[in-house]
Amino acid sequence: MSSLLVTGIGQLVTNDPANGDGSDLGLATNAAVVVEGRRVVWVGAAAAAPEADAVHDVGGRAVVPGFVDSHSHLVFAGDRSEEFAARMSGTPYTAGGIRTTVAATRAASDEQLAANLARHATEMRRQGTTTFETKSGYGLTVRDEARALAIAAQVTPETTFLGAHVVPAEYADDPAGYVDLVTGPMLEACAPHARWVDAFCERGAFDADQARAVLEAGIGAGLEGRLHANQLGEGPGVQLACELGLVAVDHCTYLSDADVSALAESGTVATLLPGVEFSTRSPYPDARRLFEAGCRVAVATDCNPGSSYTSSMPLCIALAVREMRMTPAEALLAATAGGARALGRSDVGRIAPGSTADLVVLDAPSYVHLAYRPGVPLVHEVLSGGTPA
Ligand code: NIG
Ligand code: FE
Repeated sequence: MSSLLVTGIGQLVTNDPANGDGSDLGLATNAAVVVEGRRVVWVGAAAAAPEADAVHDVGGRAVVPGFVDSHSHLVFAGDRSEEFAARMSGTPYTAGGIRTTVAATRAASDEQLAANLARHATEMRRQGTTTFETKSGYGLTVRDEARALAIAAQVTPETTFLGAHVVPAEYADDPAGYVDLVTGPMLEACAPHARWVDAFCERGAFDADQARAVLEAGIGAGLEGRLHANQLGEGPGVQLACELGLVAVDHCTYLSDADVSALAESGTVATLLPGVEFSTRSPYPDARRLFEAGCRVAVATDCNPGSSYTSSMPLCIALAVREMRMTPAEALLAATAGGARALGRSDVGRIAPGSTADLVVLDAPSYVHLAYRPGVPLVHEVLSGGTPA
């Protein structure tokens, strides 16, 4: 197996407190990393680096772990820019817009869906994302959900069955019948292609009993649970996720004190999705409140054509800092190690011996520039599993 020495790293973020300055970010200066195959095998001072088969000098730039985007919806067709424009002139966001994308997705061929997914995955990679989760949820028939997941599984192991995204129009008079479909034949067809099961627990989508039924059925079929909750208002979703011991609960825009306590006690990761508040012109949740209570926090894009059509983790970091009151260090941790935790992954989200060699070289002297220079394409190059991406 050939080895590569990445050296000349002006500032290295390892997310490994055993490395560097001992902070959560494990910051080191004038650092180097040795990669063998897909893995990091050595991290330390450039002056002390061992020899390797090849050397790559990054010229004093900062290097951070590849971003882990733990929440996206990339198997879709169609465009909802008109809906976005209407929102920006005052029309509120509602869960019902999902049905527009469902119609376009059902009408698309497998090839069109796969090409659209590949385009967005490339977009993500260019912006430094090296691990991403993505969901079904725009098919809402047995066939369309199963094909969405089969297509997604070609590009990521982190696939989520979201048949319980919204009740489709043809079941408008029989939501209970739709939940039976999701927990029965749809789950059976989708489980082989999915790692996770999810539901949209929100007024206008699924209530707590329905979400619980979907999650329990999915977990019974061998999937792991995660949940969309408390996006449009306070509700039972966050506490349901904590009670079920789910790995992550996503959105968390409207939280009661009891929700915050439940998150802190359960250890369920609160995934914040600032692209949604940006794109729906909604109030941002206050991350300080979560950190002060001792909650675990991740930041992700929620990239989807309705509520957050950005694939950019750097944008989400900048928004988390400016609008959710995270420090730049907290936001970067949430977008890397936090996302990894939200996916139950210990192999990604850090740069340490044994971890996957996912490295993002920034055209900047420090990681702070991710928030300090919003909207600027700072990703100079990406190594994904040791390979230039
Ligand atoms: O995570 N909240 C539910 N689902 C998506 C929105 C989907 C859409 O509007 O198409 C989300 O925001
Ligand atoms: Fe979502």
